[in-house]
Amino acid sequence: MENLKTVTQYIQSLGLRDADRRMQRQRYWKKETINAYEAGPEANVRWLTEMVPEGWHSVPDPYPTTEASLQRGHKIYQVFCIGCHGPIGDGMGPAQPWIYPPPLNFTILKGRGISGGILYYQIMNGITGTAMPYFKRDLESQKIWEVGNYVAVYFINQSDANTEPRGIDAAWEP
Ligand code: HEC
Repeated sequence: MENLKTVTQYIQSLGLRDADRRMQRQRYWKKETINAYEAGPEANVRWLTEMVPEGWHSVPDPYPTTEASLQRGHKIYQVFCIGCHGPIGDGMGPAQPWIYPPPLNFTILKGRGISGGILYYQIMNGITGTAMPYFKRDLESQKIWEVGNYVAVYFINQSDANTEPRGIDAAWEP
């Protein structure tokens, strides 16, 4: 047992105490996210939205909503999200009993002006301190937009896809 502790300490020291810092950071954010969750849906959504940098709040989904894009979004949702957020987006996926704060019930986002850019940022980066993982390694940009739009259309009942202004101006001018 003592040996195991010494080896663990040695391995951690190789990371120059990064592991300690990461643990501290996780503990801090876990407390923050639990406080927000326990303050009720209204306060939680407000808190989660405030964590997204301002610039992302007004970035609309640059892709149009089409039958094919919704089908792709659905497929991605089934592979990467359904286990936590559940088939109807109410946060009651099979992993729900083991996760706290629990997976977000998307239906509480209805009518709160959650834009494509907010969802995109959250899916891209995950939510520190919760089980919500970041997907920037698994999903390329268009897939993040498409799964976000699937969630927006089917569970939040609002979507800003295919609206003006269409995302970031292209650097290239004809
Ligand atoms: C391992 C479980 C898990 C998986 C897998 C997961 N999520 Fe989450 N998700 C969470 C948790 C937990 C939260 C935060 C709940 C809280 O803090 O109240 C969350 C929050 C979110 C939010 C924040 C909503 C808002 O506007 O505040 C979005 C968007 C989201 N998830 C989308 C997705 C999408 C899309 C996928 C699949 C690509 C996914 N999640 C996969 C657990 C998960």
